[in-house]
Amino acid sequence: IFPDRINSAGIDLADPLIREPLMARLAKLESVHWHAEPTFCSDDPHEDGAEIAPINKPHDLTSEVGTRRDSLPEEIERAIGIAAKIQPGWNALGGENRALLLEAAADLFEEHSDEFLSLCQREAGKTLPDAVLELREAVDFLRYYAGEARGLFSEPFMLPGPTGEENRLSLAGRGVFATISPWNFPLAIFIGPAAAALAAGNSVVAKPAEQTPLIASLAIRLCHQAGIPEEVLQLLPGAGDVGQLITSDPRLAGVAFTGSTDTARAINRTLAARDAPIATFVAETGGQNAMIVDSSALPEQVTRDVVASAFQSAGQRCSALRMLYLQDDIFDETLAMIRGAFEALDIGDPVKLATDVGPVIDPDAKAALERHVARRKKAGRTVWRRKMPKGTGAGCYVAPTIIELDSILDLKRENFGPVLHVARFRSEEIEQVIDDINSTGFGLTLGLHSRIEATRRLVEARARVGNFYVNRNQIGAVVESQPFGGEGLSGTGPKAGGPHYVTRFATERVVCIDT
Ligand code: SER
Repeated sequence: IFPDRINSAGIDLADPLIREPLMARLAKLESVHWHAEPTFCSDDPHEDGAEIAPINKPHDLTSEVGTRRDSLPEEIERAIGIAAKIQPGWNALGGENRALLLEAAADLFEEHSDEFLSLCQREAGKTLPDAVLELREAVDFLRYYAGEARGLFSEPFMLPGPTGEENRLSLAGRGVFATISPWNFPLAIFIGPAAAALAAGNSVVAKPAEQTPLIASLAIRLCHQAGIPEEVLQLLPGAGDVGQLITSDPRLAGVAFTGSTDTARAINRTLAARDAPIATFVAETGGQNAMIVDSSALPEQVTRDVVASAFQSAGQRCSALRMLYLQDDIFDETLAMIRGAFEALDIGDPVKLATDVGPVIDPDAKAALERHVARRKKAGRTVWRRKMPKGTGAGCYVAPTIIELDSILDLKRENFGPVLHVARFRSEEIEQVIDDINSTGFGLTLGLHSRIEATRRLVEARARVGNFYVNRNQIGAVVESQPFGGEGLSGTGPKAGGPHYVTRFATERVVCIDT
């Protein structure tokens, strides 16, 4: 839509002249101790009674990456007041000026890529390739939404009318937005919604996931360094109680949330219970993502794409593949190939370049996944599990797992980690398979491997999902090319990184002048 912008080039890890010096620089950053705290807070947290929580590595829970100083109720109250006071000025700055500031932030993010990559690895347990993709997405969000600010918020749109009447429509910020973001994309999905809200002329109070405030804190500091005023974009670290206090504030104009469907429902109730104007609520929630593979598919390509979709990022993407349907006449041979690739996955410290699957985020995530696997074993299901390598005992590791099921209907909840389920179907059952997938109520990603055009058309027409991927993996949506987001239990829309996202954060004003 705004063709001047191109996505970030990222970092070419295949080039040893780039990779080796990068690895050396990252090794030096291993010892840095980070800290996150509310943007406006006193220097003496002990005097205030604020809680300081350690942030440990998912790879090694005995190793501290930094500390999080939680936001106190009075600080939340004050932060929203400050944000409300400054918002009209930020809105009046205009789309072009806001775009320049967001673009300056994107440049600084790229300049500070080493710190971001190091934090992605240490705080969030990401592999280096995943960390590089995450940073790229964050930079792309900043530049894309900057383009939207420039294109949509600089000049009013002239509307038709009879002679003697001038009609114009302009977009403006709604007020203060809260962004509540997840740990699985601690940088990209932290900064994306905040950048969109800022682009539209809102001020923002940003609550990062309690597990990953350090990378968020660096992102906020760089935005301030780029010239976005501290009052306009504030960090409020903390756990769910902080989120609850923020969302119950009647001065909020809207909330952009990414996380579980249950939490989204709770936020929606909190917003509705306020004695305040009806808030805008943008929620990107869970998925029960399937892939359908028929006998016309190319087995090597299927193997590669299944393994990437299910196990990259340790399965901790909302887009990740949870339920693989293989047509029965290719079931055994395709599953054997997938299991071959699965057995070859390198599991371990995300800091090592060879690692394919790192840890899950924390002990609660690990326990939930282990409970799920144990229940399926108890129910007599066939379960394949990888043996964990040495050196993973102190971390939150879940052995990559494949479980055979009859249908997606056997899954009652999202299993957010490296656990793939597989079922067989006969070709005449494909419509039933799609209906079963739809009946979960989730609608985020769906994969299809088929060379049959009629099958592609059938699935595309019948499936109710936000992102449908054909003959490729189903993760890693690219800003502007694959705007991302689901429907039903998977979220409210609009799609992140797409042309309708920023406008959801704006209000529309029409002026009609009788000339
Ligand atoms: N946007 C991510 C992806 O496409 C998921 O959150 O993988």
